[in-house]
Amino acid sequence: MARTTSVGISERRKEGPEKLCGQAKYIDDHALPGCMHGVTLRSGVARGLIKSIDFEPGFPWHEYTIVSAVDIPGRNLVTLIEEDQPLLADRKIMHPHEPILLLAHADRAKAYEALKHIRVVYEKQEPVLTMEDSIALKHKIFGEDNVFKSYLIEKGDVAKGFEQARFIIEGEYRVPHQEQAYIENNGMAAWVEEDGTVTVLGSLQCPYYIHKALMKIFHLPEEKIRVIQSTTGGGFGGKEEYPSMIAGHAALLAWKAKKPVKIIYDRAEDMPATTKRHPAIVRHKTGLDKNGKLVAQDVDVIMDGGAYATLSSVVLSRGTLHAAGPYECPNVRVRSKVVATNTPPNGAFRGFGAPQTLFAVELHWEKIARATKIDSLTLRRRNLLKLGSVTATGQILRESVGASDVLERTVKDSGYVKKLKDYARWNKDKKKSCWKGVGLSLVHHGAGFTGSGEVYLASKAGVSITIDGRLQVLAASTEMGQGANTMFAQVASETLGVPYEWVEVETPDTKFVPNSGPTVASRTTMIVGGLVRRAALEMKAALSKEGLVLRTAADLKKAAKILCGSDLIRRFIVQYEKPGEIVWNDKTYKGDAYGAYAFAALVADLEIDKTTFEVKIDKITTAQDIGKAVNPLLTEGQIIGGTAQGVGYALLENAVYKDGAMVNGQFTNYIIPTSMDTPSMKVVIVEKPYSRGPFGAKGVGELPMDTPGPAIAAAVNFAAGIWLTELPLLPEKIFKAKNEAQG
Ligand code: MTE
Ligand code: MOS
Repeated sequence: MARTTSVGISERRKEGPEKLCGQAKYIDDHALPGCMHGVTLRSGVARGLIKSIDFEPGFPWHEYTIVSAVDIPGRNLVTLIEEDQPLLADRKIMHPHEPILLLAHADRAKAYEALKHIRVVYEKQEPVLTMEDSIALKHKIFGEDNVFKSYLIEKGDVAKGFEQARFIIEGEYRVPHQEQAYIENNGMAAWVEEDGTVTVLGSLQCPYYIHKALMKIFHLPEEKIRVIQSTTGGGFGGKEEYPSMIAGHAALLAWKAKKPVKIIYDRAEDMPATTKRHPAIVRHKTGLDKNGKLVAQDVDVIMDGGAYATLSSVVLSRGTLHAAGPYECPNVRVRSKVVATNTPPNGAFRGFGAPQTLFAVELHWEKIARATKIDSLTLRRRNLLKLGSVTATGQILRESVGASDVLERTVKDSGYVKKLKDYARWNKDKKKSCWKGVGLSLVHHGAGFTGSGEVYLASKAGVSITIDGRLQVLAASTEMGQGANTMFAQVASETLGVPYEWVEVETPDTKFVPNSGPTVASRTTMIVGGLVRRAALEMKAALSKEGLVLRTAADLKKAAKILCGSDLIRRFIVQYEKPGEIVWNDKTYKGDAYGAYAFAALVADLEIDKTTFEVKIDKITTAQDIGKAVNPLLTEGQIIGGTAQGVGYALLENAVYKDGAMVNGQFTNYIIPTSMDTPSMKVVIVEKPYSRGPFGAKGVGELPMDTPGPAIAAAVNFAAGIWLTELPLLPEKIFKAKNEAQG
């Protein structure tokens, strides 16, 4: 009999062989008969009004399908949280990559050529390009105050807390834009079926977000819209919202042309036009008693939302909820806001606001250490969250708190304490060609959506058996490299007690799978995996009611006949139910922000060349508590990949903006880490099970992105004897800071 234990084993990726053999079809690999190629005309100005659009006379326009705002049969809108972003600008221009017009031609080169023969005349307006200008209301570009959303968390009495403080330390920290840098650019194909169903196929994270958006654009009922995921070459949050825009564009062209249309962005279009991580300014004022115990934390967060609201409110929410760090303090205030600027909208990127605010709180410990003369490890040990701790939102942590475990394991395995001393001695030696540094960070990451977020989503997922005896997982959650399909099959096979190989995962296609919510917020394993487990338990109960046990292929055939009856398929679908103990108030921002938190600590060990000021990371050591690693190898892959993205954020990635537009939107000058820049890593998985997660799992997708920034900044500052508080830590910034430090 085949092995039936699966969870905790590094099963092979479900889609591994087809990716390895080049058989997986990414969107541009799909050959659609009679397909036209769609291109987008974008505004070149950051802010203004369209005066006229002129088509050059004599150009063969009759060969083209042309779509503008007036052609939209339903609403001119990219539906998300707020209804503010048009699918095609009709008059007002809010940023330099705003889509205005769409063109399709059977020949891709000719489609691009036509863009040069259209002239848009604008009445230009002065743009608002920085967070500071937006807050100062240089111009009103959104509502009364340019603020998309703001939050306030209050615990205890901050003013009283500062009265008791022996030390009060203030600091300001800044983080920049960051590009998701998925391997496959955004792309989407669309066609209209004979029965009028608008169908899109493409690279995406959230099929039902697109489904909802298309219903509004075409003013069609849900059964007349179909969204299918093609093999997706990475998303990292970057395919959470923008695919709704591209899907809308491709579908409009296809609908008007009465032919399939593909829109595939090249890198130079994808990078500047689509979403980035929100830049942020975070200010801390922290009060501590003489022993270094926190008595007050006052945190102020500002994020740059770009021109439209998109997902900014939820990115800011997560940033706000993580701003105080994984620590307990009796008096906390976090004030946050995300403001509008005339730059392309910023959006989801792995970590979703948390890497921004955790960078600040973690690096701030080094400033506190300098002022209190208590080292930052001791400070963390004295203040970290433990079982029974009360967080900034008043959440009592009742289980699965691995903060101390990951910290101690990371410190021990990295030799952090000894290295601090050794490197301090090394750096005194003027003859050495480099400075050496070591830095530490400790973070928490709320698993899944907030309590109310999951209730609102009311996700559904399930398992099914077909009449011919195939077992399938049914969910709209997408595989984008993180291992969702493998995890689903492992959870289902373990629960049903059947071999991993027996379970298939249905393609996310809104025609066949229920809405299991978006593939975001590292929620797939904990939330959707939990639903799949419940559904599998229901199937198991139905089987045992019939006296059936699935041991052999013959059992499966028998079970199929009995369970399906006269149908082709029998589905077991379950819906999310909020655990009773999770109580969260969206208005007061008090209560159980997340069901559970994952925890991670990281030590970065690096050197800085004294001639070039380049940073070379020698070693990264990280321990991460994710409840349970359903698949240890894929978990380690998530940690290594997320850490590498964090290394890029800390040291290399520098999105340069001019007049509201990214000017280095190519990999030749927007530098991300290559394998040469990715240090050797020691990864330790810590498992503090969460009783509500399937087999104890809490999720690992984003957690690893939170740790590298602050640890690397701490190490760089320690090595060079400087105080830099803004990422990325480019050699020229280190050089300048070092010169200033030496007078
Ligand atoms: N890993 C790979 N290989 N590719 C990706 O696109 N996205 C990340 C993370 N890991 C991503 C990834 C992001 S932003 C999230 S939210 C989670 O995976 C989503 O998947 P999960 O819910 O299965 O963790
Ligand atoms: Mo991830 S940023 O939540 O898609």
